[in-house]
Amino acid sequence: MSERVRIETGIFGLDTLLGSGLWSNSVNVVLGSAGTGKTVFALQFMLRGLEKGEKCIFVSFDMDIGSIREAAESFGWDISKYIDQNQLAINKFFAEDVSYINNDLLSFIVSEAENHDRVRIAIDSFTPLISSLDYEMRNDVNWFFSKLKELGTTVITLEEPLNGNMSKPSVEIPIFLGDTVIHLKNIGYGEAFNRTLKIIKHRSSWHAEGVFPYRILKGIGIFVEGTAIVEKMIRRINLEEVIKELGYDLSSIPDFVLQKLDVFSKECVQCSDEDIRNIVKTVIKCYSKSPES
Ligand SMILES: Nc1ncnc2c1ncn2[C@@H]1O[C@H](COP(=O)(O)OP(=O)(O)O)[C@@H](O)[C@H]1O
Ligand SMILES: [Mg+2]
Repeated sequence: MSERVRIETGIFGLDTLLGSGLWSNSVNVVLGSAGTGKTVFALQFMLRGLEKGEKCIFVSFDMDIGSIREAAESFGWDISKYIDQNQLAINKFFAEDVSYINNDLLSFIVSEAENHDRVRIAIDSFTPLISSLDYEMRNDVNWFFSKLKELGTTVITLEEPLNGNMSKPSVEIPIFLGDTVIHLKNIGYGEAFNRTLKIIKHRSSWHAEGVFPYRILKGIGIFVEGTAIVEKMIRRINLEEVIKELGYDLSSIPDFVLQKLDVFSKECVQCSDEDIRNIVKTVIKCYSKSPES
């Protein structure tokens, strides 16, 4: 498998919250109830790939190629030219026909992904497919995800049950197996805080904590707000200076401790000056004698 790199989501503001995007060759879950913008998310993720010349594969379980084209057109996104050039492949499947996930579905994705370096895959939505599987088939989902990871970077959308019960296997399994889980919510408070986005997990990376409002705008798509503050909070510090200020002698700190702090110093996110001093001091104290003792 090729070296892991970051992949732009195409969702405005989101990459900042993910510490510069998704990982390549990963399976990422977008969870939300009806109308939260999951299909828009999947389309926007595709569009960014198309703009960058990447191969994109869109699998739908509820929309045919015509309605997908229409949905994109309603935003002013012309995906027709990409479909004509076969840079964008779209297929609608029926969950009841995909009794084994390794059947038509995977062969379609494999055949389209073949011979392409950078591949984006969207499965919108995964819910009908996984709902049709027995609990014992969890291993198959794991296997399916690992196949997808070999092929490219995938976004899978998932229906959040209206009753809020997330402990169903059809919700739990993809959340558990997904590399990144993004939760879209429509809380219905009206304008500014109507829609919110939260990153639930993001494997092997920092991600922003908290809840961010987003809008769905014509032409633009999903636009996440409040990310400028996060950008400002991603800081790099002069470690030696901080250590000296705290009254420690650099040479008295073991190398492996300095190494931890060195990595931290390159990306101290959402930390104030006081937080940074406190973190550095606490870590040093854990491994060595404090200067006053
Ligand atoms: N062309 C558009 N311009 C502005 N907003 C749109 C447009 N198309 C869809 N939306 C918004 O996106 C919402 C639906 O998003 P969608 O991705 O279909 O939801 P989901 O897939 O989660 O059910 C709509 O309710 C609407 O508010
Ligand atoms: Mg949808």
